[in-house]
Amino acid sequence: MADAKVYGILSAKGGVGKTTITANLGSILAREFKKKVLAVDANIEVPNLHLYLDMLGLPSSLQNVIKDEVSIAHSTYIHKSGLAVVPGSFLEEGVDVTRLKNIIDLVKGLYEIILLDSHPHVDKETRAVIESSDEVLIVTNPWIPIVTSCLLTIKLVNEVGTPIKGIILNKVGRSDEEMSAREVEDSLGLPILAKIPADINVYRGVEKRTPVVVEVPKSPASKEFRRLAKLF
Ligand SMILES: Nc1ncnc2c1ncn2[C@@H]1O[C@H](COP(=O)(O)OP(=O)(O)OP(=O)(O)O)[C@@H](O)[C@H]1O
Ligand SMILES: [Mg+2]
Repeated sequence: MADAKVYGILSAKGGVGKTTITANLGSILAREFKKKVLAVDANIEVPNLHLYLDMLGLPSSLQNVIKDEVSIAHSTYIHKSGLAVVPGSFLEEGVDVTRLKNIIDLVKGLYEIILLDSHPHVDKETRAVIESSDEVLIVTNPWIPIVTSCLLTIKLVNEVGTPIKGIILNKVGRSDEEMSAREVEDSLGLPILAKIPADINVYRGVEKRTPVVVEVPKSPASKEFRRLAKLF
């Protein structure tokens, strides 16, 4: 099997949907498309992917791997969708994020796709995710301040030199005043890969700690996640 392709999932602003996309894209690729997928919670400071996947109380995490306390194999857990997950843990000190790439490289031979969730900033932690990725996905909502903040992320990605696969436009359709897909594409100069609607089922899925693609596979958002998954 060829090495996995690693995708960093990025945004400069918080709450746009990175973790939702990591959980849902990972789950649908594993469950319906039968891909070998690993999702890594590389939101080192405030990890929460495990909350979205109902994988609480696990004994080890990415932070433990980075600190050389356990191997990545010992920190990989299988979600009910078939998605392999390396969760994060809170309040860890002395985590050297520059080690992320070496750790991800170790397991590239075991998967087809690796998704790296990330934290909402443009800093050295974000850089570590970009450097660990073969391509990145930029997540935004169709609102001017959030779209504008993507320019900061894009600048850093271009500095590192990692290709950008495209934009995922999330929470679409909440207001008549929001930017159109065309306006977002023109502002950022990048293609939109998916337009995921604002869907109450996504929100409920987080409350139930189950990705919407598993809980309500025919919801509007699940249909768009399915369309997005076909691009991987
Ligand atoms: N398409 C959607 N429809 C409805 N609610 C959504 C959608 N996408 C995300 N949400 C909700 O928005 C909130 C934030 O989503 P999420 O945690 O995925 O964002 P994030 O970018 O990972 O945030 P952070 O940067 O803080 O890690 C969650 O409550 C989630 O349920
Ligand atoms: Mg998140």
